[in-house]
Amino acid sequence: MNLKGRDFLKLLDFTGEEITYLLDLAADLKEKKKKGIAVKWHEGKNVALIFEKTSTRTRCSFEVAAHDLGMGATYLDPMGSQIGKKESIADTARVLSGMYEGIEYRGYGQDIVEELAKYAKVPVWNGLTNEFHPTQMLADLLTIREHFGYLKGIRFTYMGDARYNMGNSLMVACAKMGMHFTACTAEKYFPDRKLVEECERIAAETGASVSLTEDVETGAKGADVVYTDVWVSMGEPDEVWEERIKELSPYQVNARVMGCAGKNAVFMHCLPAFHDLDTKIGREISRKFGITEMEVTDEVFESEASIVFEEAENRMHTIKAVMAATLGIPENG
Ligand code: CP
Ligand code: NVA
Repeated sequence: MNLKGRDFLKLLDFTGEEITYLLDLAADLKEKKKKGIAVKWHEGKNVALIFEKTSTRTRCSFEVAAHDLGMGATYLDPMGSQIGKKESIADTARVLSGMYEGIEYRGYGQDIVEELAKYAKVPVWNGLTNEFHPTQMLADLLTIREHFGYLKGIRFTYMGDARYNMGNSLMVACAKMGMHFTACTAEKYFPDRKLVEECERIAAETGASVSLTEDVETGAKGADVVYTDVWVSMGEPDEVWEERIKELSPYQVNARVMGCAGKNAVFMHCLPAFHDLDTKIGREISRKFGITEMEVTDEVFESEASIVFEEAENRMHTIKAVMAATLGIPENG
């Protein structure tokens, strides 16, 4: 397997074998890190990290992984660069290609990261767009594989806003890996029809399945993994909160939902999560709408079934694998 020179923009661009290769590489890099074995495969190289939206996990993962691989990293924050304001994406891509060996981009439309990749002469990695969050997918798949020992046949239920980056990406990830994906939410929040059809075509070849349901018991029944994400994503206007709370509250992951799921079901979330009042936005929403938890209850978030922090750690190991593979693994690596 050789992924040198490839971009990492969305999972649809990769085969199941390539995804498995990246997961195996991530697992190997994780083991080496735990044993204190240095993997300075890309000593002397540099990567640019463009963030047009804020981040904790993705930014830290890219920075730590770059450092571990022997590379330098430059973080461009949402305010501190010319991108999109004074300089086009095409020009930015060509400027950064002259200084860096790889470019990460987090921002708005998927078309922007695709444009960046078109003009860049070095690999481009998608650190989240409105439509997709592919590095998160690798972390999620690795975490599920570590927990259950396999991916094929896993029954995966996604609850909440399934028509945005996380719902879309998880549906693709499940289809590619032969898993049974269910989006359990109000019809308005089902993933895009065209993407559902594409995933159904993939699923027909991999033994996966894609289901959409508005019924909580049907959706959660027998699930191995119950997954949710915030009801309002970065870049969406504050005005949508009221509608989201009203329409998505029935799909909150709570003890009743976990009770419907399989006996050994786990809870996952890409994070950050609104599960208590320990955040500024959580408190504001509580004042306005009188709720103390949103997409997941604190009880489930803090339960034994919750593997969200293992999942968060795996962001770093999997992002390291993406960078290492697309920059090229050395002969003796
Ligand atoms: N899950 C995730 O992408 O987290 P950040 O927004 O903190 O990067
Ligand atoms: N759907 C969320 C994911 C955050 C990792 C957002 O786009 O804000």
